[in-house]
Amino acid sequence: MRNVTRIAEVREAVRDWRRAGQRVVFVPTMGNLHAGHMSLLEAARAHGERFVASIFVNPMQFGPNEDFAHYPRTPQRDERMLSEAGCDLMFMPDVAEMYPFGSAAATRVEVPGLSDILCGEFRPGHFQGVTTVVCKLLHIVEPDAAVFGEKDFQQLTLIRRMVSELCMPVQIVAAATVRDADGLALSSRNQYLTEAERAQAPAIHRTLREAAARLAAGEQDVAAIERHGLRALEAQGLRPDYFAVKRAADLGPPQADTRHWVVLTAAHLGKARLIDNLQVER
Ligand code: PAJ
Repeated sequence: MRNVTRIAEVREAVRDWRRAGQRVVFVPTMGNLHAGHMSLLEAARAHGERFVASIFVNPMQFGPNEDFAHYPRTPQRDERMLSEAGCDLMFMPDVAEMYPFGSAAATRVEVPGLSDILCGEFRPGHFQGVTTVVCKLLHIVEPDAAVFGEKDFQQLTLIRRMVSELCMPVQIVAAATVRDADGLALSSRNQYLTEAERAQAPAIHRTLREAAARLAAGEQDVAAIERHGLRALEAQGLRPDYFAVKRAADLGPPQADTRHWVVLTAAHLGKARLIDNLQVER
């Protein structure tokens, strides 16, 4: 595996592969890799022959009081994991390479509306940072396909929408959420939990499952399911930002004929803000 830090080096490697007729699949990450990230590389295999992963903790997607400075960074371990997983190229730019004019002054990409609901309501500017950096990374790598986790369902929805509206010639592949045995979705932010908090954290998945079961059973009163979810999380010691039932296709309000639903939540636990979701068909 090659490990590069410059945009020009990525372009050069990818162009050689494309010229040789190989399909290139891209997995963007912020590093501190875990089994969730590795499952994206696994999913990538079905879509091409060459694999590129990026590791970049993107300052633009962190709010002023968020964890940018403390976000776990483990570049050597990440490099080893990617190399063992058969990744061909690891792109680890510094902030100046991605934002030569600084991230505050950078040109940006925004999907209005979809960026402002759910997590966007509680993390203003966050999704503008995500769509901007993903747009740039897709332009740098120019992959045939890029893989994103369903764990970040709103992010995945926004990226699909951006790619479609900006006519970007890339296939977006979704990979299922990887969980610990007790249901907690794997996340770099789980490391912020104390032992006692880690024992409370599966309440998120449990509560999502209850809501999903009520929806699957045909319950119509979405507001009641949302209220119950919020109360259940609070009763188990979490501080939820939201607990919401949406149409999976576009995160709009569910309609009478909606068949594919998603229940999404974000909750604070100690120093961590955890998110998770479950899809439901009915
Ligand atoms: P990061 O949190 O590092 O996640 C990178 C990718 O891994 C995302 O597509 C995310 O959905 C996926 N992922 C994380 N945990 C997962 C899990 N438990 N199961 C399956 N997939 C999981 O998401 C970001 O970085 C950034 O916002 C990024 C897209 C890289 C832009 O900066």
